[in-house]
Amino acid sequence: MTDRSFDWHDEQWWRAVKLTSLKEGEGFLFSAEGHDIALFRVGEEVFAVDDYCPHMGDSLSAGWIDQGAVICPRHMWAFRLTDGQCLDVASLRARTYQVAIRDGWVYVKKPADLEGSQSESKQ
Ligand code: FES
Repeated sequence: MTDRSFDWHDEQWWRAVKLTSLKEGEGFLFSAEGHDIALFRVGEEVFAVDDYCPHMGDSLSAGWIDQGAVICPRHMWAFRLTDGQCLDVASLRARTYQVAIRDGWVYVKKPADLEGSQSESKQ
């Protein structure tokens, strides 16, 4: 879900792409610090999920949107954009990321495990 009032902090967010570069319903692959992330614009909202299908690893950014879910192009299983839950197999879930929009840019919050490793490296 898109956070429009996020607390800006340089080290916690990646600046990913201009909002106007995202096409409605089409995936956009964003890569940073070893993370490949699929971004999807749905109206004025942007959603971010791992670009790795938890079933067999296909690229979710190559998928398409249907009723609030990204459809994996390989086996057509659906993953809900808000929380990554697979709608076809209850035990599968794609990782999702918090998204914010500020000044026309889409920001993706770094995962907590990455923040932790960076904090440790600074000490
Ligand atoms: S690889 Fe994505 S549904 Fe099978």
